[in-house]
Parts: sequence; C-alpha cells; structure tokens
Amino acid sequence: MPEADREGERYAVDQPQQTPGFYLKGSHQLDWGMKNRMARVFDPRSGRTVMLAIDHGYFQGPTTGLERIDLSIVPLLPSCDALFCTRGILRTLIPAQCQKPMVLRASGGPSILRDELSDEQIAMDMDDAVRLNAAGVGIQVFIGGEHETRSVHNMTRLVDAGLRAGVPVMGITAVGKTMVRDAKYFRLACRIIAELGAQYVKTYYVDDGFETVTASCPVPIVMAGGKKLPELEALTMAYNAVQQGASGVDMGRNIFQSEAPQAMIEAVAAVVHKNATPRQAFELFRSLKADAARATANVAAE
Ligand code: R5P
Repeated sequence: MPEADREGERYAVDQPQQTPGFYLKGSHQLDWGMKNRMARVFDPRSGRTVMLAIDHGYFQGPTTGLERIDLSIVPLLPSCDALFCTRGILRTLIPAQCQKPMVLRASGGPSILRDELSDEQIAMDMDDAVRLNAAGVGIQVFIGGEHETRSVHNMTRLVDAGLRAGVPVMGITAVGKTMVRDAKYFRLACRIIAELGAQYVKTYYVDDGFETVTASCPVPIVMAGGKKLPELEALTMAYNAVQQGASGVDMGRNIFQSEAPQAMIEAVAAVVHKNATPRQAFELFRSLKADAARATANVAAE
C-alpha cells in the first residue's frame, strides 16, 4: 500500500475563497446553464439554500413523515428553496406547476434490508433529468466503503453527463454504519468529491473542525440533517454549519419528522438566510407552531 502524505494543517478558515464574477464558491468558471441551475437552488440574495430532502424512500420505503408525500410535503414546497427527491416521487406526487427547483436522486441499488449499502449504481439517465427540467442531480459517494471505487466512478460518469447537459451534480458523502464521522473523514470525502468534479457537496455536520471541512472544499457544501433531534438542537446544528462556511442545508428528517414541519422549515430558513441565532429561530418555531395549533383548533370548532 502506498504511503499516504500527511494531511495538511493550513486551512486559513478566516480567508474566504475568492469567486470573481459569481456569488457561489467554485462556480464562477462554469457555463451559463450550469450557473443558472445553481442560482435556482442557491438563493442569490444570501448565497445559501434550504433544500428539503425527501429522497429517503429510495432505499428505505415509506419513511416516517414521508408515508404520504402529497399530504405532508407538498404543503411545505412554498417554504423551501429546492426539493431533493426521486424521479418517481416527482412524476407521481409533485405538481408540475410547482416553480421550485428540483434536484433528483440519481443513485440507487441496495435497500435497507442489506447490510452493505455502498453497492449502488447510477439509477437515472441524465436525459431524464433534463426531460424533468431538473436543477441538479444527487449521488451517494462511499469514500472508504466496500464499493468505494464503483461509487466514485458512478459520480464521475454522472459529472461527465452533467457537464454535457449543463446539470450540476451534488456529491453526497455517504457514511457506512461503521465509519468514523469526524472532520478528518469529511475533509477527505468532501475534497475527493469536489476534485472529481461535483459542483457541490452534501455532508454531515461535526462539532469539532467543521470549518476546516468547508475551507478545504472548493465548492459549496450543504449540510445534511441526519437523525431527528429536538428542534433547538437541529437549529443550532444548522446555525453552526452555515456560520462555519456551509452554503445552506439539505435537510429532511429534522423538518418532516418535526411535530410542526411548517414551523420548523421557516425556522431553518431564518437561520440559513437571515443568520437568525438558534434561540431566535427556536422562538420563531414555537410561535409559528402555536399559531398553527390555534388555526387547527378554530377549524375544528367551526
Ligand atoms: C439519505 O440517504 C438521503 O440522501 C437524505 O437526503 C439525506 O440523508 C438528508 O436527509 P436527512 O436530513 O434526513 O439526513
């Protein structure tokens, strides 16, 4: 086995990467169509996004909160900047008149019934993404996983197809059940994904050193939410992520499994776009939740 170089230490987190002529990190030399699709996902006013991730069914079926996407998710669409979903859900349940940008899950294979989830393949043609007017596609990359090389190759093939069509690829750091989730791992995974051509990366937040993950990745990073947390904790995590250089979130369970998903997505948006503190966002969550409860009680009383 070749000897690996020691990982670098000079991240200069206080010196933002320059992006002359365009507002998004690493995107300023992309073609017009690619930039335009990126600008549909990342709000040009804040440079950030609240992407709502609802693709979980692609390997685990009707996940809690996603049993009826028509009832639970469609009402949230006006409050997100983009939706991350599968083409099956897009074609069957998302109204075609919806103006929100759609980022489509483009990998798949093993289901939750298998121990090894890294055995994925490309699961959608770029032609279909274009046909569906997608603003981007997303694919899992299993750095360090059993099928690491295949998942990297899946992504690079998708990136090649995306470059031909002008469709950005979001590479997703997929963490196996036994993988250590620390900044060192995510620096490695995010950097590999960016070096091999993804236009942006989705990854998890880590408490220690997340700013080095964003600083050493030359393209925008969006934070995946992970398992459901109490709302204040989830808002704190999103706040820390954007303050430490993330260009927004691609969050699922912490929104759609919240007891008040509409209030939660508005609170997340306040953190992402308005730099609301976790406490301010949590107060917003509580007040919107109370408003919604009153409205429901009034309807029931009528
Ligand atoms: C999971 O495999 C999917 O890629 C999700 O899109 C991703 O994990 C983000 O959703 P959550 O915030 O629920 O973790």
